[in-house]
Amino acid sequence: MKNMQKITAAITGVQAWLPEYILSNKELETMVDTSDEWIRSRTGILERRILKGEGKGTSDIGAGAVKGLLEKTGTAPEEIDLLICATCTPDMQFPATANIISDKVGAVNAFGYDINAACSGFIYALTTAAKFVESGTHKKVIVVGADKMSSIIDYTDRRTCVIFGDGGGAVLLEPCQEEGLGIQDAILESDGSGRAYLHQKAGGSVKPASAETVAAREHYVFQDGRPVFKAAVKNMSSAVSRILKRNDLTGEALTWLIPHQANLRILDAVASHANISKEKVVINIQKYGNTTSGTIPICLWEWEDRFNKGDDIILTAFGGGFTWGAMYLKWAY
Ligand code: UT7
Repeated sequence: MKNMQKITAAITGVQAWLPEYILSNKELETMVDTSDEWIRSRTGILERRILKGEGKGTSDIGAGAVKGLLEKTGTAPEEIDLLICATCTPDMQFPATANIISDKVGAVNAFGYDINAACSGFIYALTTAAKFVESGTHKKVIVVGADKMSSIIDYTDRRTCVIFGDGGGAVLLEPCQEEGLGIQDAILESDGSGRAYLHQKAGGSVKPASAETVAAREHYVFQDGRPVFKAAVKNMSSAVSRILKRNDLTGEALTWLIPHQANLRILDAVASHANISKEKVVINIQKYGNTTSGTIPICLWEWEDRFNKGDDIILTAFGGGFTWGAMYLKWAY
């Protein structure tokens, strides 16, 4: 048999798209019984973006990011052979938002589908996409992480409405041109019993939409914050420690930690557990809140200029499901 070299997948471009409208803590003070002080000190969030406008959905966020990505990387839409969209706020129950994004950007040769792993969606989708590249069957794959959380948030519930925002980003994944770079390893885990603490009660097959479910406000995010907080710290910390260890890395040696932006206190706890100093932790939660599948690609885009080829980067996320995980990559450009 011919000696075939193993193909590794690498991110070769990243672009985010954020709606213009800024919902500040001050404005939230006029909507629910909360305060700028409470939101800052309990979550680290100062403002978040909201997608306004009739007929606008998650595909508009995704398509905005993909258009910018194609332009930036000099890629023609016809060259894309797979597009995966991580989201828990699809435009519709079906078809997949990935198909709608492909249509909007002219990716006529791409097949595509959605992945719903709530806040872990982007790393689940990136891991899945990497398998297509590693197997040699697909050469230009786009992974989108986008959510219009404002479509499922109850703006009379102060426990959830202060946390979430709208936004997303996209990465281009290609076979790595240089040995030793690109996606190296991933740990993905889930525990469905966590659904008790974080879910949307109605609108699925168990409880289809009815006048009663709408009146009972059951189409919004339900979250019991404390158990989610504890599980997020425990599971992200454990995933980060294990992925460091099995790749012979330490928190001190790591270049960047990019955590899902859920709560500043969660990010601090995860970083300190893994012995990773603050300057290495990518944090932009103050500007965008929790954009669910969007947080990690938005972070990659904002920090792109600061990354150097060969940087050791760990992505980590935790979300509804429960779902969580960590991914180790060596930045490829
Ligand atoms: O992204 C993936 C998954 N999600 C997460 O990772 C989120 C995890 N959880 C959290 O980030 C935090 O639990 C929250 C930010 C959601 C809540 O913070 P907390 O420190 O856990 O607060 P709490 O729920 O224990 O509530 C403490 C108090 C309560 O008042 P009482 O009962 O002590 O009088 C709440 O009613 O804070 C009250 N409270 C608020 N007060 C002002 C809750 N939300 C607000 C608010 N403004 N927005």
